[in-house]
Formats: sequence, structure tokens, C-alpha cells
Amino acid sequence: MKLPSHLTVSNNNLFIGGHDCNLLASEYGTPLYVTSEDRILQNYSDFFKALKTHYDPVRILYAAKANGNLAIFRALAQLGAGADVFSTGELRLAEIAGMPHDRLLFNGSSKTKEDLALAVEKGVTVTLDSIDELHKLDTIADESRSKAQVSFRVNPAINVPTHPKIATGLSTSKFGIPHQKIIPAYMEALSCENITPAGIHCHIGSQILATEPFVKATEVMMQLACELHDLSIRFSFVDLGGGLGIPYRHGVDKAPSYREYADAVMPVFLKGIKEMNEHPQLWVEPGRSLVADSTVLLTRVNSVKEAHRRFVNVDAGFNLLIRPTMYEAYHEIVVANKADSPCTAEYTITGPICETGDVFAEGRLLPEIKAGDLVALLDTGAYGFSMSSQYNTRPRCAEVILKGRDKSLMRRKETIEDITRTMVTPPWQDEPRRS
Ligand SMILES: Cc1ncc(COP(=O)(O)O)c(C=O)c1O
Repeated sequence: MKLPSHLTVSNNNLFIGGHDCNLLASEYGTPLYVTSEDRILQNYSDFFKALKTHYDPVRILYAAKANGNLAIFRALAQLGAGADVFSTGELRLAEIAGMPHDRLLFNGSSKTKEDLALAVEKGVTVTLDSIDELHKLDTIADESRSKAQVSFRVNPAINVPTHPKIATGLSTSKFGIPHQKIIPAYMEALSCENITPAGIHCHIGSQILATEPFVKATEVMMQLACELHDLSIRFSFVDLGGGLGIPYRHGVDKAPSYREYADAVMPVFLKGIKEMNEHPQLWVEPGRSLVADSTVLLTRVNSVKEAHRRFVNVDAGFNLLIRPTMYEAYHEIVVANKADSPCTAEYTITGPICETGDVFAEGRLLPEIKAGDLVALLDTGAYGFSMSSQYNTRPRCAEVILKGRDKSLMRRKETIEDITRTMVTPPWQDEPRRS
């Protein structure tokens, strides 16, 4: 298997960012998420440069949902990134990380009154997903005598070659306003006293391994932006969303590079803005492509069982990484203490959760595995910890971040007390039982 440059093998041991995974696992315990900050910063600056080659006013809004750890937010904030936030929690994290409010976009298909009120109070631009939401926001802004800056999320009705659960711009998706109804939506916004249309937004899906769907979406977006410009609407930004995939199957999947993405999409964007004779900021909202390959999930082998298959029972389960269970997602696996040993046997890697679906990988050819070995699941930085749960009353694991020779916890392991702290037993259970 071909490893990316931040993953190396020395003396049969797997290293991430120059740190031995086996030593990290011994020091911090397992399961353990380990993230290379350097890799994230490299990904960010590669994307930024690829876009900047074509156009200057570019802003990258990190899609907070991909990995919500504050340390990652802060690292990206320090480079000038903003954030696509999808909840008040994500908005709060972005604030704590030091991202200014004008670098945030509050997305979401079902926002509460409180969500909208917070966006208005903080002066964060809101992406609207319905006309209902437009009027709700107008009323909220009126009550606080403010103006709300908005964009509408366009549903461009584009089929994308990805898992159906993460295709978001299909004509049947729950997200956005059908592209045929976008012009009336902006007209309605203009009739609202407390609303200022500031931009236009779309996001067609995630883990997309071709440039064509992005090109098609950009065509729809620029066509709409030009039509709206003719109707005297001036945008300060055009947001093309996120969605660029990564090659989870190393050496098999082919993901467009940032340069290939930019070279495909930017001519369409530039043609559109030339027609408008305007220079709105270009916003993109990558999540996965910035953080996925920065991280490994280390998990210790509890036991190996010969049954109708050879099972490797590890100490991480789908409570920590749900992608294989939820999306049949593939993650490369390296036995971190036998990284250069010949692959001689087929294994099915399973977790400790009480569900048949708690399987990370089936029929993988790996070196001979024994209890106590350390398994590394690669490319787990996006939608890994951020989609974790405490199912089976399992405290979530720790996360470590690496930068150069430095290493630090970026989240401690949870305890059982962390789980029970929010539980309340009703008073009648304390009363003596009447017979
Ligand atoms: C509105 C929005 N923007 C950006 C993203 C990030 O997508 P990705 O991680 O595939 O880049 C998502 C992911 O679901 C999203 O919903």
C-alpha cells in the first residue's frame, strides 16, 4: 500500500508525522485518535494556493462538522480560515477558536428561532433553506432592530457519484431551494425589510471523486448569480460548498487534486463574474479533504478468533468510527507494530459493540495478527470522532495532536462519570416502596 508522506514505516513500526504509533498508544492508551496538524495546514495551504492562482478574493470556510476539535479550529483560524457552521455549538467553537464573525456562515436545513436569533445577534451571515425560514429571520431581525445578511442554498439537482446518504444536491434531497425557485426566493428576500441578500450558496455532497459535478454546479450557480445581477442584486460572495473526496483506497481511488478541482471550476466561475462585471469573494467549504488524511485511529487487538472467518476483535467500535457501518466506507488498515511484515492471512476486523454491524473491514489481507497487536485505521480525521457516540455506555477515547516533534492531548478520554453526569434519577425512585 502506498502511504502518504506524513505516514512512514521504520523498523516495522508505523509512524505518523515522525511519531511512532506504538509509543503513542502506550503513552496515551487505546483506542486513540492521532492527528498531524502539519498535514492539515499543508492541505489548507495547497487548496488556498490552487484557488488563488485563478482569483484573488478567496476564502476557505472549514466545514466544522468534519472534525469539531477546538485545536483543529484554532490551527485553521490562525491561517485565516473561516467556518461553515451548522449549529450553535459549531458557531460557539469557531468563536472560541478566534474566527471573526464575518468569516462564518450559518448553514442548516432546520434552524430554530434561537439559532437564527444568535446569528442575528452576532452578525453572522445565514444561509436560508426555505421561504419559511426567510420570514422567521426577518421577524427576528425586526425584533432586534438589525439587518440580517443572507444567502439561499441552491439545490442544483445534480447527480453525484457518491454514497446516496451524502449526496445533498439531488432534486430529491432535503437540502436547499430548487434552482428553478431561486429567483423568486431572492425577490421575496428583497421585499423583507430586515434582510440583505449578501451571497448565494450550494453544497452538492461529500466524497466526490470527479470534477464534473462541481463544474455543473458552478454553471448553475453562476447562471443564477448573473440573472440575479440583472435584477440588481449584488453579491459579496459566491459559495460553492465543499465535497471534494479523498482516495480512501490507496493506489486505487483517484481523487482530483486541489489544482485539478480549481482548474476545472474556476474558468466557469471567472466567466460568470466577468459577465456580471463584479468581484464577489469566492467561498468554498471543504471538510473531508482538509482533515481526513491527517488522522489515524489506533486500536489494540483484544483477541483473534478462528470461526467461519478469522475475526480480529479490537478495542474501538462503531461508537468511535461509524463510517464503515453507516456508509459501507473503506479505510486502509495497517498493523502498526508489523507495518512491513508480509500479508499472509485474511482477517475481518470487528469492534466490541453489541451489534452485528460493528465491523471495520472484511476479508483484509494483513500480516499475521495476535492479541496485543496495534491496528491503525487510516484517513479517519473526517466524520470520525465528530460522529462518535457513547453507545453501550462506552466513554469516548482521547485525541492527540502532533506538530513537528511536539505532541499533545487535544481531548482527554471520557470517564463513566462524564457519561452519568447528565443523567437524573426521578425523585419517586428514592421514595420507600409501598407494598
Ligand atoms: C453545507 C456543507 N458544506 C460543506 C460540507 C463539507 O463537505 P466535505 O467534508 O465533503 O468537504 C458539508 C458536509 O456535509 C455541508 O453540509
